[in-house]
This record gives sequence, C-alpha cells and structure tokens, in this order.
Amino acid sequence: MNEHHTPILVLGGTGKTGRRVAERLRARDLPVRIGSRSGDPRFDWEDRSTWAPALDGVGSVYLSYYPDIAVPGAVDTVRAFAELAVRTGAGRIVLLSGRGEPEAERAEQAVRATGAELTVLRSTWFMQNFSEDYMLEHVLSGEIRLPGGDVPTPFVDIDDLADIAVAALTDDRHAGRLYELTGPHSLTFDDAAAILSAASGRTVSYVPVTLEQHADELRGHDVPEEVVELLTYLFAEVVDGRNADTTDGVREALGREPRDFASYAGAAAATGVWTATPAAIR
Ligand SMILES: NC(=O)c1ccc[n+]([C@@H]2O[C@H](COP(=O)([O-])OP(=O)(O)OC[C@H]3O[C@@H](n4cnc5c(N)ncnc54)[C@H](OP(=O)(O)O)[C@@H]3O)[C@@H](O)[C@H]2O)c1
Repeated sequence: MNEHHTPILVLGGTGKTGRRVAERLRARDLPVRIGSRSGDPRFDWEDRSTWAPALDGVGSVYLSYYPDIAVPGAVDTVRAFAELAVRTGAGRIVLLSGRGEPEAERAEQAVRATGAELTVLRSTWFMQNFSEDYMLEHVLSGEIRLPGGDVPTPFVDIDDLADIAVAALTDDRHAGRLYELTGPHSLTFDDAAAILSAASGRTVSYVPVTLEQHADELRGHDVPEEVVELLTYLFAEVVDGRNADTTDGVREALGREPRDFASYAGAAAATGVWTATPAAIR
C-alpha cells in the first residue's frame, strides 16, 4: 500500500483525533503533512483550491471532516475531496465517521464509491469531549446540562481511535474494513458525571435538559447558530438509545480491549485540565 516514504496527509491534524494520529505517525518516523488551515500548505475545506497542493505527493490520507460529517453539504464535499485524492494517487483513505448517523453513512458510501482503498472508523462519542471540547466547560461549571435523558452512551477513548487510524494507515490488513468503535461500557451521563467527579475531585452532576433548553443555553453563550443546530440534531438523532450498545471494533482492529472511562478520566485529570476555572478556557 502506501509507499511509506510518501507523506501521509492528516486532515484535522491539529484537532482532537488528527493531532494524536500525527503524533503516532511521527513517532514511527513516518512523514506527516498536517491538513488544516494552519498547515503548510494550508488546507481549507471551504477553499477547494487548497486541496490539490495539500495532496501533492501524498500516498494516503486520514480524513477527519470539520465541523461534522453530519452537517448539510458534508457528503458532497467529502466525495469531491476523495475523488481528487484517488485521482492524484492518495487512494488509501482512513475515514473518521459517526455512529448511528445516516448522513455519516452516506459520506462513507460516497468515499467508497470513488474506488478508494478505504478503512472506515465509525465512532461513537468521544470521551475527550469532556476534556477537549465543549463539554469541558460543563465539567468545570459542575453541571453537565445536556438533553441526553437517561440514555447510555458507550463513549470511546480517542487514543484507541488514533491507534487504529495509524494501524490502518500503515498496514494493508485494514483496507476494506469498517470498524464500529465504542468503549467497553455504556454509560449514562449520570454514570459519567460520577466518574468525572471521582477523577477530578470536583462535584460534577448531570442535569438533564430538553433539546429546546439546551439550544437556548447555547445561544445564551453566543454559540453560532450552525453549531446549535448541529448539536440539536446530534442529541435528537444519535442519543436516543439506538447507539447504546457496545461493539467489538477496538478489539477487532487492535486485538486488545478498549480503554474504559475511568482510565480516560484519570489520565485527563492528571493533565490538570479540570483544575482551570470556566472563565480561563473561554
Ligand atoms: N466529537 C465526537 O464525539 C465525534 C464522534 C464521532 C465522529 N466525530 C467526527 O469527528 C470529526 C472531527 O470533529 P472534532 O469535533 O473531533 O473536531 P476536531 O478534529 O477537534 O477539529 C478541529 C480540527 O479541524 C481543523 N479545521 C477547522 N476548520 C477547518 C477548515 N475549514 N478546513 C480544514 N480544517 C479545519 C482544525 O485545524 P485549523 O484550525 O488549523 O484549521 C483542527 O485540526 C467530525 O467529522 C465529526 O463528525 C466526532
């Protein structure tokens, strides 16, 4: 597959998963090109003229779309990018997808139809959303105010996801595979809050709110309307119980057990991320 000395393009290479993928590839002395607006050359999903320079000389791609593979227009954009990648010799694609999202599955199909040598990482919600994304603020405020009801979610540790992405980018055995990725346990937000409290030394509670309350609270924090709509869609479509079961994806891909939420929470707490005040991260 990838002639390992051609650069591997890591889209979203400064983001939550891409950063971890890039770090692991570099640790193996593999050449990495970061595909993001701060990359060199710059890559911008919204400026197609930046795509070919970013793909120049590349043999394989970690494809993480931004902001979310379920937003309107994502399927067409991801398809157009994958067609260009295949045409320019970067036909080995590891696609980050979302579990239980019809739009994400359409994007998977679109990439597969380009003839790419594809590995799909169809992932549930990341554990790291509590420490590296918008739920960090909830943890710091002591209240996880989300419209998650009492539906359990089998959060996945993206260190596992990144290990799988690197395996797929470097080993032909993963070509053509679809890995459905979850952690080892399905947790309600109440369960997650209890584990986060124990790890962080803070009192963190889950406060269920309605979709409408959640949207209003986001708007009250000046969150852009498109993000409000995306989160409302995700909570309505993805956190309704259909994605509550755990899967064997991590074990299938890596031959080992997935990391659990308590291990994640302990590691995140050790970084000091939950000792900041809410204002400090704005
Ligand atoms: N969060 C979850 O729980 C979850 C679960 C399953 C699947 N996913 C999928 O994961 C993907 C990434 O989501 P994420 O929340 O984890 O984001 P993320 O990777 O943390 O997003 C930030 C990255 O995107 C880059 N970026 C931002 N705007 C860009 C643009 N216009 N063009 C190119 N790059 C851009 C950023 O770099 P620059 O600022 O330098 O451009 C950064 O590298 C989405 O497709 C989502 O569907 C997420």
